[in-house]
Amino acid sequence: MNSTSLQFNNVNKAFTLQSVNYDNYDKENPTLTWMRKQVQKNVLKFLRLNDKILELNSGTGIDAEFFAEKGFTVHCTDLSDGMIGQMKKKFSATNFSDRLIIQQCSFTELDKIGNKKFDFIFSNFGGLNCIPDLRESTKFFPSLLNKNGRVCLVILPPVCPWEMIQVFRGKIKFAFRRFSNQGTLANVEGVKFKTFYFSSKNVTNTLGPGFKILRLESLGLFTPSPQMEKIPKKFPGLTKLLNKTDEKISHLFPLNRIGDHIIITAEYQGT
Ligand SMILES: C[S@@+](CC[C@H](N)C(=O)[O-])C[C@H]1O[C@@H](n2cnc3c(N)ncnc32)[C@H](O)[C@@H]1O
Repeated sequence: MNSTSLQFNNVNKAFTLQSVNYDNYDKENPTLTWMRKQVQKNVLKFLRLNDKILELNSGTGIDAEFFAEKGFTVHCTDLSDGMIGQMKKKFSATNFSDRLIIQQCSFTELDKIGNKKFDFIFSNFGGLNCIPDLRESTKFFPSLLNKNGRVCLVILPPVCPWEMIQVFRGKIKFAFRRFSNQGTLANVEGVKFKTFYFSSKNVTNTLGPGFKILRLESLGLFTPSPQMEKIPKKFPGLTKLLNKTDEKISHLFPLNRIGDHIIITAEYQGT
């Protein structure tokens, strides 16, 4: 098995195991709930009436369900058997399953979608960080987008201050893990696979001159990262204040380039 197949195999195994409790964990983690709300608010600002969305790495389909309920059509894709299974279960119980399409496919094989066109391509919560070169996916974007189609990519960047200050607790390797060019080993449900981190500049360069950046925003800069679960539980008032601070200033330069995640929205200028 070559290194790409091994990576995809492990990603599938890890997220299939995680898919069973994914929604419960998502709901019970106040930071994740807040982050998802910020992403959804951001996407709604850039969606236009009746837009057709292509979602990459949809997971269990939480965002897809949200946008379909608002009237948008969402073509959901994911690599993981478990995530696809959870989506099928979830969508069949909705009243708007006709606006939700599911296709098991890697975002590095978007040619499998055929000659469909979309108005919006969306990837949430770092799914794209599972490949070493974003071009493996973004190369398909121009042929999938309608004129003036938009993309919103929520990506893990290298500079995450909340992780970096862990150096003062002696966690040196963890504090700088995002800077490794070779990728860092993530451990999800006991299965290890590589994660790669991308700066806003890297994403902008990867999209190329055909895309105009509409908005760049940090997600989780003052707010502690979602895995620091004890902080919101111990200090709910302070966490709310940090959430509000992020909401006010996360779009300002240079803060909009760092954080737990960054949200990049761009418009395709080609034909
Ligand atoms: C952290 S989860 C995020 C899921 C979802 N976007 C959300 O917001 O809940 C990452 C997802 O990326 C998917 N993924 C990772 N590599 C992928 C690939 N090459 N193609 C498609 N999906 C992939 C995983 O299966 C998993 O569902």
